[in-house]
Amino acid sequence: MSGASQIYHYDRTQRGFHWLMAALILVALGIGIYAAWQAPGTSPRRELLDIHKSVGLTVLLLLPLRLVYRLIAGEPAYRAPPSRSAHLAAKVAHWSLYVLMLLLPVSGYVYSAAGGYGLPLFGLFSFPRLVPVDKALSQAGYGAHYWIAWAVGIVLALHVLAVAWHAWIRRDEVMGRMWPRRVAGG
Ligand code: HEM
Ligand code: HEM
Repeated sequence: MSGASQIYHYDRTQRGFHWLMAALILVALGIGIYAAWQAPGTSPRRELLDIHKSVGLTVLLLLPLRLVYRLIAGEPAYRAPPSRSAHLAAKVAHWSLYVLMLLLPVSGYVYSAAGGYGLPLFGLFSFPRLVPVDKALSQAGYGAHYWIAWAVGIVLALHVLAVAWHAWIRRDEVMGRMWPRRVAGG
């Protein structure tokens, strides 16, 4: 099944993208939820939302690079291939995460841009406003952002639970495929 040249783990670049973007997304989720509790126009909501948008727009900038690299580099082989249904479930979850990683910052962008609000990147520059200022569009962007954030939360919880199950109950190779220090073989 596996020749000598088989690679069994994601390469350094893919792991770098995974863990950097996982950290950015978790930070954006935390700040977004916290800021949404605070009254509009108050401090520190405004400052937190500037950081939230900067982190979210960074995710949006990194995503095409990651996707192009992923399409070129592909997925590593398994030492012990999973069942067809388990592999299909992992594929559906992973590609859902890629789609949601695109839709979430895009909906946030539409919400903020159409609302006439700022689009900062850590005070370095402002993103261009590519949509008209339009209250209804901004509201739709907000609705989408809210529900897509829930979808991300649910798929992410399943992702982390699945990985934890592999790592602690089945004790198989799955975590080692993405984990920096437990790379073996390949
Ligand atoms: C924080 C806890 C996390 C852990 C422990 C974790 C762990 C892993 C592991 C072990 C894999 C490889 C699975 C396999 O080979 O079948 C993987 C893949 C993946 N993870 Fe995570 N992950 C975490 C967070 C995230 C976050 C926050 C995201 C983004 C929303 C994410 C998105 C992905 C994607 C898209 C893949 C598929 C990679 C590919 O095939 O291109 N993960 N993760
Ligand atoms: C990875 C990217 C992102 C994640 C994970 C994320 C997540 C979230 C979450 C969970 C909330 C709280 C929703 C609520 O309870 O109402 C939120 C709110 C918000 N997000 Fe994002 N977001 C991201 C990207 C963006 C981007 C790129 C922008 C704009 C450029 C943006 C603008 C906002 C704004 C303005 C709010 C406040 C909503 C309100 O209370 O009015 N987000 N985000």
